Amino acid sequence: MARKLIAVIPGDGIGPEVIAQAVRLIERRKLPLDLWHLDLGADRYLKDGTTFPKDVADRIRNEASAVLLGALGDPRVPKLEHARDILFGLRFGFDLYANIRPVKALSDRVVPLKGRTKKDVDLVVFRENTEGLYVNMGGQFKRGTPDEIAINEDVNTRKGVERLIRAGFEHAKRRGKKTVHMADKSNAMAHAHELWHRVFFEVAKDYPGIEPKHVYVDALCLYMVQDPSPIEVVVTCNLFGDIVTDLGAALQGGLGVASSANVHASDPARVAMFEPVHGSAPPLAGKDLANPIASFLTVGMMLTHLGFPDEERRIEAACAKALDEAQCTRDVGGTLGTRAAADYILAQL
Ligand code: NAD
Ligand code: IPM
Ligand code: MN
Repeated sequence: MARKLIAVIPGDGIGPEVIAQAVRLIERRKLPLDLWHLDLGADRYLKDGTTFPKDVADRIRNEASAVLLGALGDPRVPKLEHARDILFGLRFGFDLYANIRPVKALSDRVVPLKGRTKKDVDLVVFRENTEGLYVNMGGQFKRGTPDEIAINEDVNTRKGVERLIRAGFEHAKRRGKKTVHMADKSNAMAHAHELWHRVFFEVAKDYPGIEPKHVYVDALCLYMVQDPSPIEVVVTCNLFGDIVTDLGAALQGGLGVASSANVHASDPARVAMFEPVHGSAPPLAGKDLANPIASFLTVGMMLTHLGFPDEERRIEAACAKALDEAQCTRDVGGTLGTRAAADYILAQL
């Protein structure tokens, strides 16, 4: 297999700590991969104003197979302009329209729901990743006065909605899943989410063995906590996907273990971006407290995408063992620091 290039952006806060462990993991596997380390994030922005330069974006688009991102967000940059340029430069700039976020518990020990086990928590959320309320269209008027107005437009295109829904059904078909849930608020958002509702049932006709199930997103949150076991695949818009995947992370043991992929699903040859669901967790930064499992599982998703699915299975099994045996960080009931938790998992591989 020809060697593949991975751009690595550790980012801010705990990002560099967990990505350092992810890089150790990748280097140990001796795969035909080259790493390209990028100095982008709050430190760089504060030093020389650089956020996400065009030449870097172009080289990623033309030469890299994947981007591995830690997290972005730093209290010294309160308006998060660097974070938006980099994160949305990747998601929007490369048209990575499917944000795939597995909600899969790897150990009974970390499932917080009474009477439930890991068998009950195994679903995946397909979050639309290029439109919705994230497009930054809108504005403020009469700012700072009693009459001020603030508007963020919610953009939903037929193309954008359809391709994300189709990606969810394709995933369900490949994995032999029997249902796809679509979560919206068509009861309140009669324009945008009527489109989601209509397109969902239209696309479903192309997948006869899979039952399309509509659910309002508020009720989905209820069902995910009451009994997530019947839920297999969820397709939803950008903002709802963001929110339900933090809820989902709680079901699998917290943000310390939640991974994600950002892909242009209809063309897997395009560069894709992989990141833990969590952010930069400023209170944990620099204290050897961050859980490296989310970034390890993220590397697993990336390696499957790059053609090494056995690697993901191994990584997942090693992380599951660490969780079962409480050889992990404090957020998931262990006593180890970031590096020691990573050491334990690496030793299992
Ligand atoms: P966060 O995900 O950083 O933290 C939320 C909670 O989860 C905190 O209690 C934190 O301690 C815990 N947590 C997160 N990752 C963990 C890990 N690996 N191990 C153990 N515990 C972990 O979310 P936040 O506090 O809302 O945001 C902090 C900053 O991160 C903000 O600037 C936000 O915009 C940014 N953010 C960035 C991304 C991204 O880059 N993709 C994602 C989410 C948030
Ligand atoms: C995530 C984050 C981002 C999002 C923020 C940092 C803009 O919460 O990746 O889940 O909302 O997409
Ligand atoms: Mn989020």
